[in-house]
Amino acid sequence: AQLSALLAAAPKAELHLHIEGTLEPELMFALARRNSITLPYPDVEALRRAYDFSDLQSFLDLYYAGAGVLQTAQDFEDMAYAYFERAAADRIRRAEIFFDPQTHTHRGIALATVMAGLEAAIARAERELGLSIALIPCFLRHLSEEDALQTLDALLPYRERLLGVGLDSGERGNPPEKFARVFERARALGLRIVAHAGEEGPPAYIWGALQTLGAERIDHGVRCLEDPALVEELRRRQVPLTVCPLSNLRLCVVPDLAQHPLPALLDAGLKVMLNSDDPAYFGGYLGANLDQCFEALPQLDARHAYTLLRNSFEASFASPEQQAGWI
Ligand code: ADE
Ligand code: ZN
Repeated sequence: AQLSALLAAAPKAELHLHIEGTLEPELMFALARRNSITLPYPDVEALRRAYDFSDLQSFLDLYYAGAGVLQTAQDFEDMAYAYFERAAADRIRRAEIFFDPQTHTHRGIALATVMAGLEAAIARAERELGLSIALIPCFLRHLSEEDALQTLDALLPYRERLLGVGLDSGERGNPPEKFARVFERARALGLRIVAHAGEEGPPAYIWGALQTLGAERIDHGVRCLEDPALVEELRRRQVPLTVCPLSNLRLCVVPDLAQHPLPALLDAGLKVMLNSDDPAYFGGYLGANLDQCFEALPQLDARHAYTLLRNSFEASFASPEQQAGWI
C-alpha cells in the first residue's frame, strides 16, 4: 500500500501510447452524435462489452472502426486533451505519443486536420498542465511500403514538429524489412526511430527492427526472451523496451499478469519501463499498469519501481538537461 502511494505520486514518462487508443467509449459516442455517425452499438456499456479481444488483430478491427468518429480538428483536440488531463493526474511529465496518419487519410481525413487538432491540444496541455509532449507518427505495417513512403512525404511539412517515426498495426506476416526504404529516408531526415516488434511477432522481427530499420527503442519486445543472443544484444546496448502489461493481458500475449515476463526482463538487465499502449481499450492508464503489475507480481519491490520510473525518463528522447528537470 505504501509502495502503491509512492508509485502514484512519482514523476513518470510515457513512451508507448497511441493517441487513438485513448478514445474512451463515452467520448466516442459524444463525437458520433456531434458528427451524425451511427455506431453499431446501442450504448457505451454494449461497446465496452465488445472489448473482449482474443489477439492483436481482433483489437485492431474495433480500434480502426472506433477512430471513424474522428472527423474534425476539434475531435482530435478533444480526444488528445482528455488524455493529457489523465496523464497529468498520473503525474506524467513527459509523453512521446503515437498517432497513425494512415488510419485517418485512408478514410478521407486530411493530415492537416489531424495535425491541427493534435497541435492545439499539445499547446494547451504544455501551457495549462505543464506536460512536455512530443509526436511520433507510425506507419501501418499491414499497408504497403509505397503507402508508407507517400505518408512520409505528406508529413514533411510538419517535420519540425515530429520527434520521430514508428511502425505499428498487425505484426504477423509484416516483418520490419518490408519498410527498409521508408526508415532509411526517415533516418536521413534526422527523425528518431522506434518500431513495434516482438509483441506477437518472433524475435527475428526485433533483430530486423534493430538492424534493418535502425530502431533506437523497441515497442513491446517481450518475446526477446526466446532468443538469448538477442537478450544479450539488447542488454549490452541498453536498447529500451516499452513494455505494456495491461495491453499484453487484454490481447492474450500473456494469460494473466502474474505470468507477465516483466520480472524476467528486469532480471536480464534490460532497459524496460511500463506504458499504457491503448488505455481506453485495455482497461487502464499508466498508473493502473504500475499498480496492477506490482499487485500481481510480488517479487517486484521498491528498487524495481525506481528502476522502471528512472528508465522511463532515460529512455525518452528528451535531452539529459530536460530529464533532470522532471525527476
Ligand atoms: N496499434 C495500436 N496499438 C497497437 C499495438 N499494441 N500493436 C500494434 N499496433 C497497434
Ligand atoms: Zn502499441
